[in-house]
Amino acid sequence: MTNKHYESIAEDFNKVWRFSDEYKIWAVDKIGYYLDLKNSDVFVDIGGGTGTFTNMIDNKFELKKSYCVEPESKMCKLAKEYSNFEIICSDVFGFLDNLQFAYNKILFKEVIHHIKDRKKLWHNIYHTIEDNGRILIYTRPRNNKFPLFQKAKKEFYKNQPLYSEMVLELEKSKFKTSVSLESFTFKLPKDEWYSMLKSRFMSDLSVFTDDEIIQGIDELEKENTSNQFIIEDEIVFITAYK
Ligand SMILES: C[S@@+](CC[C@H](N)C(=O)[O-])C[C@H]1O[C@@H](n2cnc3c(N)ncnc32)[C@H](O)[C@@H]1O
Repeated sequence: MTNKHYESIAEDFNKVWRFSDEYKIWAVDKIGYYLDLKNSDVFVDIGGGTGTFTNMIDNKFELKKSYCVEPESKMCKLAKEYSNFEIICSDVFGFLDNLQFAYNKILFKEVIHHIKDRKKLWHNIYHTIEDNGRILIYTRPRNNKFPLFQKAKKEFYKNQPLYSEMVLELEKSKFKTSVSLESFTFKLPKDEWYSMLKSRFMSDLSVFTDDEIIQGIDELEKENTSNQFIIEDEIVFITAYK
């Protein structure tokens, strides 16, 4: 389901996420802070999609080397348009199993919920990342604060791992951890938010038919009579240190 979802939205992925430049800059700054990015770092962006963030992060922190690891071929093709980082068209396990270089910083931005065997993941990273390396998981709490209709909230909750569980798993795999929750709040005209829902901007929305999305939008219309949404995007930053 996930691969099909990203294949179907690949060409529109950058349009589907209508968040502002300010949002992207905020996210990149936070990633730099939690990963303590320095220009001596070899950085890996797992599930980097079309490379938007890999590009921004590499440019901002002038990294020694950056890699975008992405399994969906249409996404990889789009990411290949950037010349400042390398694209590895693979899922995370294919990447770690065939590793040809040393790396010390690794990011999972909005992708950890797609990776089922996390025990194996933490083990493989622990045995491949350099000493003093860091992992950053950028994800959302199960009860996110997006204006979603009830069925979508339930679907998101079902698919999203509990972040406290991931912290315990990482600690069991010998990493030290720290967790922070931070929010970026912004306003979006209702039409834009509805159009994001219709484009199924989150993979959790891909299970709904067009009719169900329309019903969901009707539900939101009843709850909000203004012409915009004030959206609080609450992000969980889990940093793991080797
Ligand atoms: C919500 S998108 C996030 C893209 C990008 N990180 C961003 O924040 O713009 C999730 C991405 O993870 C990729 N993905 C899904 N399963 C994966 C896996 N097992 N290993 C690596 N990437 C995966 C998808 O193809 C998709 O591009």
